[in-house]
Amino acid sequence: MKLAGKRIVLGLTGGIACYKAAELARGLVKAGASVQVVMTEAARQFITPVTLQALSGRPVFTDQWDSRISNNMAHIDLTRDADAVLIAPCSADFMRKLVHGAADDLLSTLCLARPATVPLLVAPAMNVEMWENPATRRNADQLRSDGITLLGPVAGEQACGETGLGRMMEPESLLEELQAFFQPKLLRGSRVLVTAGPTFEPIDPVRGITNLSSGKMGYAIARAARSAGAEVTLVSGPTALAAPNGVRMLPVTTAREMHAAVMSEIAAQQVFIAVAAVADWRVSEASSQKIKKQDGSPPALAFEQNPDILAEVAALPAPPYCVGFAAESEHLLEHGAAKRRRKNIPLLVGNIGHQTFGKDDNELVLFDDTGHYPLPRAGKDMLADRLVAEIAQRIRT
Ligand code: C5P
Repeated sequence: MKLAGKRIVLGLTGGIACYKAAELARGLVKAGASVQVVMTEAARQFITPVTLQALSGRPVFTDQWDSRISNNMAHIDLTRDADAVLIAPCSADFMRKLVHGAADDLLSTLCLARPATVPLLVAPAMNVEMWENPATRRNADQLRSDGITLLGPVAGEQACGETGLGRMMEPESLLEELQAFFQPKLLRGSRVLVTAGPTFEPIDPVRGITNLSSGKMGYAIARAARSAGAEVTLVSGPTALAAPNGVRMLPVTTAREMHAAVMSEIAAQQVFIAVAAVADWRVSEASSQKIKKQDGSPPALAFEQNPDILAEVAALPAPPYCVGFAAESEHLLEHGAAKRRRKNIPLLVGNIGHQTFGKDDNELVLFDDTGHYPLPRAGKDMLADRLVAEIAQRIRT
């Protein structure tokens, strides 16, 4: 896990989103981070230190004059070995305090006194009007220009009953953001286009042809590329997965839609990673009405070939760096090497199709013009990071 061993100071300020911070603390601990919670007086109106202590496994600090720190320097000691300070939720008032360098409680003093090398991330949470207010807008701009990372807020229904921007990011998204924050920016400045998931080729309005691809590997690669600093567009067939944070999504259904989406984006891309399991054929003429069952005579379906998106991109006059995937059921080494040459691409990633579809882990083999290299079985997120590092190394040389 990317957060394993990270030391995070988690600051809570006053807001109903404090209940989500409990889950965030739990998620951080589960990811292997050590979490030191610090709460403001207002945060304690929403959730008790006992809850956060139980979830973080450490005593919670709330008071500047806490006698547990013998030199009375909690504001110094708590950040000296921290990897990051995360304020979640961060109230409008606490944003103001950060902007002005206030030091009138433990959390604000700690933020002011933290070493410049310890990054500060804040997840604002407030009513939509408070967030839209010019004063808050100014404060948000000032925090960004002071090098503080703002995570969210996101739009949606608010606890006050109003709707709009101001909700704190969900704990899972904050964890994803924090992981991305710590990743080396190997693809900074690159634009990366990823295809993922299956395609669905209709037979009639209620039936179609698809495959068992879950999209997990492609989504993991999109996430990893974004965490590595790339600007990522994800063209996705139908999947049950949540869109990765910070990735531009282009949802499609059929292979032809995927082809059109890729072709309209491709000119601006430096890297194209074709992970999607694209249907090789489509039904020539899908029926506009549901085909009725006729006893003893199944419908005769005629098929035609779908465009080979990857091969077409690789054949462009100035193609991006192209990475293909091959899901084989046998003879992976021969088929993989042959497929890379046939598609005329610099890098092909092979796996055993029926062993990976829908699973959370995978085992890959990379094929390039110097040979083949196994990436041993690991979680798809871990493999995606490895693959992104391999791609970054190859496009740099
Ligand atoms: O030829 P095959 O389907 O085995 O090749 C797999 C690779 O080609 C994958 O990277 C897949 O995303 C891509 N592909 C494509 N368009 C197709 C078929 C496959 O981009 N019509």
